[in-house]
Amino acid sequence: MTSYKELGLVNTRKMFAKAVKGGYAIPAFNFNTMEQMQAIVQAAVETKSPVIMQVSKGARKYANPTILRYMAQGAVEYAKELGCKKPQIVLHLDHGDSFETCKSCIDSGFSSVMIDGSSLPYADNVKLTKKVVAYAHKYDVTVEAELGVLAGVEDEVASEVSHYTKPEEVIDFVTKTGCDSLAISIGTSHGAYKFKPEQCTRDPKTGKLVPPPLAFDVLKAIEKKLPGFPIVLHGSSSVPQDEVDTINKFGGKLPDAVGIPESQLRKAAKSAVCKINIDSDSRLAMTAAIRQHFAEHPDHFDPRQYLTPARDNMKKMYIHKIMKVLGSNEKL
Ligand code: 13P
Repeated sequence: MTSYKELGLVNTRKMFAKAVKGGYAIPAFNFNTMEQMQAIVQAAVETKSPVIMQVSKGARKYANPTILRYMAQGAVEYAKELGCKKPQIVLHLDHGDSFETCKSCIDSGFSSVMIDGSSLPYADNVKLTKKVVAYAHKYDVTVEAELGVLAGVEDEVASEVSHYTKPEEVIDFVTKTGCDSLAISIGTSHGAYKFKPEQCTRDPKTGKLVPPPLAFDVLKAIEKKLPGFPIVLHGSSSVPQDEVDTINKFGGKLPDAVGIPESQLRKAAKSAVCKINIDSDSRLAMTAAIRQHFAEHPDHFDPRQYLTPARDNMKKMYIHKIMKVLGSNEKL
């Protein structure tokens, strides 16, 4: 058993309480490569922001659970080396699908886990979440749970349709399970294709899709039921159109990729939403930089040549999110 405290990581409890009060959100960036990890830490240190580094089941399979765990430990030391005396870095399991996966993360140094029972019948979701909370709290690890279903595909999490969280269920769920934060469904979805063209309108000037607004009425109703309780938004990439255009210009094919407008996320960050999950935007920033690099330097074959601009582009995106969307800069 390795406690996250030995690794210099923190759980989400104080971080979320401060964010809810302060009207901002903590960035939760997914990672599975060294370059993503470096870019996340550089961005967090430069903006003096707390940060959640999260690992999905797919990331664990890709990179190896042990390696990712040591990378998070390395992230803390790297942040200190960059001049941050007391980094606030959370290592979080994204979309844990069983008690065993959550336990294995808690036992190996994660400071926060998500148990995603959202596809289960309500009573089973309560039962599973409660079991994870009982184990996690023994080690002061915080637990995110989910009610409602997001559409979209992310690693092994996939759903064709979304079901908004039912505000009338949240008090019962949070009370029975004892979870520390709650991921809700209000119209965000995983991936780079968050909405079908028929759900959107088109900007007559650019021809780009304009997505429908998030269900802020549902968020408001949930906040009313659970005042001050930390709420989480998954599927919150904005799918920046300049990155999509670069990808398509240099040989990619992402027609009609569309995300959540940043103005909507900014509005959500000012409410009880205190954790905003971003994965696809990092993938897009990396891919755009690599495609452009190869198109301009067809003779390059040293990974450092194309991964350096990829890392820089991700860092720029992370800094932008922290400062212009979530507002978590200067909150250390
Ligand atoms: P995006 O696909 O919108 O980046 O969502 C990521 C996410 O919610 C991770 O759990």
